[in-house]
Amino acid sequence: MITDIPPRTSSLEKTVLDNLITAVLLFDSELRLSYINPAGEMLFQVSSRHVLGQRACALMPWSTPPVEERLRDVLATRHPLTERELILPLSGDRTIRVNCTVLPLHHFDAPADVLVELCRVDRQLRITREEHLISQHQATQALLRGLAHEIKNPLGGLRGAAQLLERELPDKSLRDYTQIIIDEADRLQKLMDRMLGPNRIPKEQRVNIHQILEHVRSLLQAEHPEGPRVIRDYDPSIPDFRADPDRLIQAVLNLARNAVAASGPSGRIELRTRVLRQFTIGNQCHRLVLRVEVVDNGEGVSPELQDRIFFPMVSGQPGGTGLGLPIAQELINQHGGLIECESRPGKTKFFVYLPLESCHE
Ligand SMILES: Nc1ncnc2c1ncn2[C@@H]1O[C@H](COP(=O)(O)OP(=O)(O)OP(=O)(O)O)[C@@H](O)[C@H]1O
Ligand SMILES: [Mg+2]
Repeated sequence: MITDIPPRTSSLEKTVLDNLITAVLLFDSELRLSYINPAGEMLFQVSSRHVLGQRACALMPWSTPPVEERLRDVLATRHPLTERELILPLSGDRTIRVNCTVLPLHHFDAPADVLVELCRVDRQLRITREEHLISQHQATQALLRGLAHEIKNPLGGLRGAAQLLERELPDKSLRDYTQIIIDEADRLQKLMDRMLGPNRIPKEQRVNIHQILEHVRSLLQAEHPEGPRVIRDYDPSIPDFRADPDRLIQAVLNLARNAVAASGPSGRIELRTRVLRQFTIGNQCHRLVLRVEVVDNGEGVSPELQDRIFFPMVSGQPGGTGLGLPIAQELINQHGGLIECESRPGKTKFFVYLPLESCHE
């Protein structure tokens, strides 16, 4: 690796810098790059050979205010500067978040240099966000279960009493009223059963994710023959794993039904599978993780709902019960996995992560 570190630096220091996992960039007093460590090359996806000598503004054109303005301020004030969670655009439409520290390096015998250190934080932020999502989900699920049980018991009594009353009514025209009580009690009962989730013991068996997705696709096509179009992008190398197929079908179907509602008959849905290595779900590291993506080209999740869609009874659809996503999340959590969402108008992605192999296995 050719890195043109200034002659003042000892070989030990260079070795340390070269092996750091945070990106380190050194700019001279004219704000030209004089050193970039391998972590920096990885972060910017450049080779030091091509970027040494470049101006800071050429390397970080996205910076607002312009990066050179910041570096000059630091040199003039002699005060270091730290900015947290800066969004750094990468090639394609990818972005990453970094914490950035800018340090002035003053020397007796030469003009000052500026050291820029960039540390990726998106991984840590993602882990924290996921831990939060899981614990929040567990808390609401417990509350919901308790509530559903409390409602179910008197509901049975209410329905039974309405039936008895119906038999005793002298005037048959009054039966319309008792029938309303019975029908509404049945509707509420179904809602409570959905809230409580599946009441049978999970039936784990060897499953192939593509069979599950094909099943969901055929159900969708039967429900909506007029569209949207369903496109498949499967990674055939994904191994079989142990899971309850009915629960996985239910979870993916809930996501796919939302995608159909969002994209409409002329829309487009994509079912994609990928395998990820050394991936963390919540705070648990897994050697192999399956990622199923359900992507649609609808309007996107409305901004005021974005943080709450996994909560029960949160719905933006007329007639929606707001239970599809919390149920899907629960079913995937039971398999040690997690569902996440990324949405903007024209592209909404739901990611289902399922562990295939844990690090300690
Ligand atoms: N693919 C999507 N595109 C846009 N908005 C979505 C998408 N998926 C979910 N949402 C939003 O999240 C809300 C909650 O979804 P959820 O599936 O939990 O409930 P629902 O679809 O309203 O009712 P149901 O219980 O019948 O599924 C939806 O009402 C919708 O506003
Ligand atoms: Mg739904």
